[in-house]
Amino acid sequence: MEQTLVILKPDCVARRLVGEVIRRFERKGLHIVGMKLMTVSQSLARTMYTEHEGAEFYEPLVRFMTGGPVVVMCLRGKRAIGIVRSMLGPTFGPDAPPGTIRGDFGMSKRYNLVHGSDGPESAARELSLFFQSDELIDGTQPDLDHVYDTTGPELI
Ligand code: RTP
Ligand code: MG
Repeated sequence: MEQTLVILKPDCVARRLVGEVIRRFERKGLHIVGMKLMTVSQSLARTMYTEHEGAEFYEPLVRFMTGGPVVVMCLRGKRAIGIVRSMLGPTFGPDAPPGTIRGDFGMSKRYNLVHGSDGPESAARELSLFFQSDELIDGTQPDLDHVYDTTGPELI
């Protein structure tokens, strides 16, 4: 099972889209194993987006991410990292197709509603920035046998 970091960004929280976005992940069958409401500090935002340091959008990005409360989540599932990214759609709403979260709710080339880790290394790095290990629930998801075929040696 993969785990990925999802952040419902300040625009998502301010626009009261938290329930709508979580609903989509839940319906898909992804398992929520960690979740909290928080305000991202300057230093955490800078660390999280360190790969973009020096880009012209870096300071506006830090301002955006620290500008209001966010909901951070750890989602678990088979191929969860890629599945979440495909549910988000391309980075900016105006380019994202209908049916994706950014495509359905985003108009801006800066405010793009939700973050999802882009690979296994970034997921591990980002999860460790936002969650202590004892903040993540372990154990089998209650509906596992209905979300996957569990009758064989691997989940299908
Ligand atoms: P995210 O990390 O937030 O899930 O978004 P992403 O993978 O789709 O995009 P990424 O390239 O990692 O960029 C991180 C965030 O930086 C802002 N950004 N602005 N050209 C620009 O103005 C620009 N490029 C990136 C966005 O907020 C993006 O989500
Ligand atoms: Mg990214």
